[in-house]
Amino acid sequence: MMSRLNKFWTTVLTIIVIYLLIKFGIPAVARQVTGLPFPLPVPGALIFIYMVLVLVAMFLLVTFDDGPLNEFLRPIKRFLRGDFTKPVRTIGIVLISLAVGWYVYDNVVPKITAPLALRIQHPSSNFPKKMEDAQNPMTNPTEAQVATFIEQAKAGEVQFIEQVMPDIEAWMDETGEEDPLLAINTPAIKKFRAAVEAGNVDNETARAALLEVRLYMGRALYAMNCRACHGDSVAGDGPMADGFKLRPINFTDNGTIETIVEGYTFWRVENGGPGLPLEATPWDSAMPEWKVSLSEEERWLIIMAEYDLAEKTPRMPEKH
Ligand code: HEC
Repeated sequence: MMSRLNKFWTTVLTIIVIYLLIKFGIPAVARQVTGLPFPLPVPGALIFIYMVLVLVAMFLLVTFDDGPLNEFLRPIKRFLRGDFTKPVRTIGIVLISLAVGWYVYDNVVPKITAPLALRIQHPSSNFPKKMEDAQNPMTNPTEAQVATFIEQAKAGEVQFIEQVMPDIEAWMDETGEEDPLLAINTPAIKKFRAAVEAGNVDNETARAALLEVRLYMGRALYAMNCRACHGDSVAGDGPMADGFKLRPINFTDNGTIETIVEGYTFWRVENGGPGLPLEATPWDSAMPEWKVSLSEEERWLIIMAEYDLAEKTPRMPEKH
């Protein structure tokens, strides 16, 4: 009479069902709850812990008493004694061999892990030659730009990029100041302001102040776009940095932005990970493709701030 499944099979089935629930049930529910277009897998380490707990629980349940234990062991003993028919034994032995074989295979088969090969830090096979001599227009203002800046400062209407305006306006509201330039409280700006008020601005003072204004904007853009990965300290230690196997670059390190010409930095920021040539693989870079979301001017401003924050200067282009 087979009114009830044997203890051995209920135990095996329970373990399989619990495993499937954790492996596929929880991700499916998580997908419903979060509304994301993909399931959220349970981390392997967590599955392992759950399964160990399940095994311990089943073990206790089975070995609690002689009755259940004997019932559990009965099919195993019968199998080993050869009490089953020949096909059942054959299937059993084939399945066990396959399971062991799969386990061994799964352990030795190459997995997707960090490649052992050293990565080429500055791959350049698709770097356009013409960018080699590119100069950052933000660190090299033209005479006309300096003159415009002086005019704007005289009128108390220095132009900022819109991204920093909320901060500057909040500061003006709070302090009652009318000149946005005063939001940047550095010696070069103060000296320039004093000269504007006294009516004797020279080009050098104005140029220094204009550079400070641009740095201010570049830093703000850096904080908004790059900080999460490259960090406040530009040391590649932002809050998201640990999430990437190929870590965001530490700009204070001597082997990074200091050893490349500025045009190369610009090109790297512009094209990100997707723009890297073949020799940069098999590593995958998470660096975003900034030409999609930042204007050329914004990218140069950020690069200006990036070098300044890292206290580095770009490599000079070689004269041909
Ligand atoms: C999602 C994370 C992430 C963000 C956000 C990010 N980066 Fe990166 N960045 C990386 C990673 C990872 C690398 C290293 C891999 C590589 O070389 O592509 C990198 C590399 C770089 C490099 C190459 C440095 C070198 O020496 O070759 C530059 C320059 C750079 N980032 C600038 C920026 C700038 C500027 C921003 C903001 C506009 C930014 N990154 C935002 C992840 C990020």
